[in-house]
Amino acid sequence: MPGFDKHIFVCTNQRPADNPRGSCDREGTGDLHRVFKMKLAMKGLNNLVRVNKAGCLDQCEHGPTVVVYPEGVWYGGVTEADLDEIIESHIAGGKPVERLRIAEGCLNNPSCQHCSRR
Ligand code: FES
Repeated sequence: MPGFDKHIFVCTNQRPADNPRGSCDREGTGDLHRVFKMKLAMKGLNNLVRVNKAGCLDQCEHGPTVVVYPEGVWYGGVTEADLDEIIESHIAGGKPVERLRIAEGCLNNPSCQHCSRR
């Protein structure tokens, strides 16, 4: 069996509700990961693309966070409603979904203008 073309990590970290950094999976359901996996399987892409649950990816203020390798494309604010577009455009089509990307200058940047962490 050949290796995977892409590897997707979905943050499923959950913190207490009063934590200032928030949680990518506030309810602790793992639904974003589960639905992503299911949709890829429905498209027949599950043998080429691996989707894994991840702990905190340290981009919490932009979450829910998803990162796609080998490209290293980071997505923020991802919901189940965005998954079809990510799969069609990026995973199948090779074109990242720009509207969901965390800007390069915002990654690991606590003074990012979009970041609530100060
Ligand atoms: S809780 Fe998801 S990136 Fe930190």
